[in-house]
Amino acid sequence: MKIGVIGSGYVGLVTGICLASLGFKVCIIDSNKSKINKLRKAKVPFFEPRLEDILHTVLKKNKITFSTSMRTMISKSDVIFICVGTPQGRSGKPNLLYINQVKKELSKHIALQKVKRNITIFIKSTVPPKTTKSFQDYFLKKNINNVHFASNPEFLREGSAVHDFFNPDRIIIGSNSPHIKQVAFKIYKKIISKRKIVFTSSQSSEVIKYAANAFLATKISFINEVSRLTEVVNADILEVSNGIGLDKRIGKNFLNAGIGYGGSCFPKDTLALSAEYRSNHIFSPLINAVIKINETQKKELLSKIFSVFTKQELSTKSVLFLGSAFKPYTDDIRDSIGIFILQELSPIIKDIKVYEPIAYKTSMQALKNYKNIHFLKDLKSISYECFHFIVIATEYDTFSNLKISDLKRLKDCMVFDGRNIMSKSLLENNGIKYFGVGR
Ligand code: UGA
Repeated sequence: MKIGVIGSGYVGLVTGICLASLGFKVCIIDSNKSKINKLRKAKVPFFEPRLEDILHTVLKKNKITFSTSMRTMISKSDVIFICVGTPQGRSGKPNLLYINQVKKELSKHIALQKVKRNITIFIKSTVPPKTTKSFQDYFLKKNINNVHFASNPEFLREGSAVHDFFNPDRIIIGSNSPHIKQVAFKIYKKIISKRKIVFTSSQSSEVIKYAANAFLATKISFINEVSRLTEVVNADILEVSNGIGLDKRIGKNFLNAGIGYGGSCFPKDTLALSAEYRSNHIFSPLINAVIKINETQKKELLSKIFSVFTKQELSTKSVLFLGSAFKPYTDDIRDSIGIFILQELSPIIKDIKVYEPIAYKTSMQALKNYKNIHFLKDLKSISYECFHFIVIATEYDTFSNLKISDLKRLKDCMVFDGRNIMSKSLLENNGIKYFGVGR
């Protein structure tokens, strides 16, 4: 079975490269020539653990090719995965420009090449309900009857996408066609047992993707809202998260209070879901509250800093800022709360030194106009006595292991921990003022 992948972003590359490593012949296309040239030389354009190593291997084994040509890809494929971006558009709705272009191009080339064999197309891009059906209808209207569409949403997390690809909790296939079922089994049986491949209608599958992300975002906003209470009643949100998370019905995951969720998915998908409700004239109080709580939570650490120092005092302070990626082990800074906080602090603080182990290049680029923000190569050679306080914005494990003796050298002996990764009692017992979230 030969596989084509349209789009060489996170989803497209992880899907294509991992499928090639399972033995399928894969052709990935993208309109960006320079990206394709780099990929041919085994260079992945973003940081994702293990992905580049696997790419090396599959290139050597001739299991993968890269192209800018839709025609070439179609001529080589029985199955196609659409993995183009659906970025945030106007009033929160996803912008479907790229995926609609793909639809037109695909139909044009399939008709021109007079392809007679069956082609199965899985839509992995996150799309509003009914998109898959509308694609199928579009092809049928053009009398293309040998192309079968299914929704196949993606649940990979950045930073652990390769692990997630090979260890999925479930695979959702939005189609009830027996032909597509066979194709899905052939592809996915290598990584998951048949019973975990769930077949639904295409609309249900599309809703599952939005609902899954919205539910996880809801857990985060929920625990962040609880953290506002724990703070004023002198409770500790870590104890509360643990206490409720031990209930299997609730579960421990995604109950870490902090400065809110960022990234390319939760902010965009919660807004898209809210827009979908609006388009269907349905009131969506919960999802709108989740979004609103996250907007306020972004400012949580800033308000703590402002409650301790006046603006005038801040104008004399030097800050050590730890982490600018939206989460650890990615160089993605889209909708990163760390970047937001840096942009807010920069005009009022004397200077800021940032240490970000993975996303330093992307962060430096995003903050190049902020003249008092500089990036550190590592933490080994820094003099803690040059800084007044520390701000933590990304939950890297290494940040929780900072030495007490180093923290004691900070001029104001103070840590603002936006991810609750440090031990409050350890710091306070050593005379270091600690500001976490909900503690
Ligand atoms: C998310 C989903 O977890 C994936 O299943 C989904 O496939 C992906 O979106 C997508 O739609 O493509 P991702 O954005 O990579 O994955 O990152 P997450 O690990 O979910 O974290 C998102 C944000 O929530 C981060 O800013 C993280 O710091 C924050 N977070 C996470 C919390 O604030 N608290 C938590 O308890 C967990």
